[in-house]
Amino acid sequence: MEISASAVDFFEAQFRRQVGEGDFALNPFETLALPHVRGRVLDLGCGLGNLSLAAARRGCNVLALDASVTAIERVRRAAAGLDLRAERVDLAGYRIAGEFDTIIAIGLLMFMTKHAARALLEEIRTHVAPRGCAIVNVLIEGTTYLGMFGSAPYYLFGPRELEGAFAGWDIVQSRPDRFDAPGASVKRFATVVARNPT
Ligand SMILES: C[S@@+](CC[C@H](N)C(=O)[O-])C[C@H]1O[C@@H](n2cnc3c(N)ncnc32)[C@H](O)[C@@H]1O
Repeated sequence: MEISASAVDFFEAQFRRQVGEGDFALNPFETLALPHVRGRVLDLGCGLGNLSLAAARRGCNVLALDASVTAIERVRRAAAGLDLRAERVDLAGYRIAGEFDTIIAIGLLMFMTKHAARALLEEIRTHVAPRGCAIVNVLIEGTTYLGMFGSAPYYLFGPRELEGAFAGWDIVQSRPDRFDAPGASVKRFATVVARNPT
């Protein structure tokens, strides 16, 4: 599969370094997500798979998808004996097959055009099983650290856009976060955990 050079190159370098250093800690968003993860899990943009692996160790059935070769190789190595499948996929334009009790997209959707990001968000919304959860984290407007996008398309969500996308769902958690970034820039995030009420 050919995946165009983009933000994924940025993460390849980061993931190679982390694999070399054995740095597999959950990030703060994955830590926030873990208590809500159950059942059949789809982890979109799984990165090194730390959350996917933690979910599988808790007995979940996990499908972990990412475009990074380094990430998928690592997830597969670490998943021996677990109910976890990892595949290398370009998620821009991806269509989800089947239903999942938990669909996760942490730090993924901003690495696409606005159209592709919104289309995948809608795929998430329509493939979470009844009483299941969507866990979505994105960069939002006001973010000035843009180096990881390179020349590739990106989309900064509106501050309340995720909540709007899950209108009518139970919003279990919704939080903004702001982190300082290199060169006096900032990263601003929105994170939503939403439960399908139907
Ligand atoms: C900020 S990292 C987040 C990784 C992981 N979810 C975490 O929380 O650590 C973004 C991930 O999205 C992946 N990614 C970006 N664009 C992608 C695309 N078009 N298709 C598949 N994966 C993509 C990158 O390879 C990277 O693993």
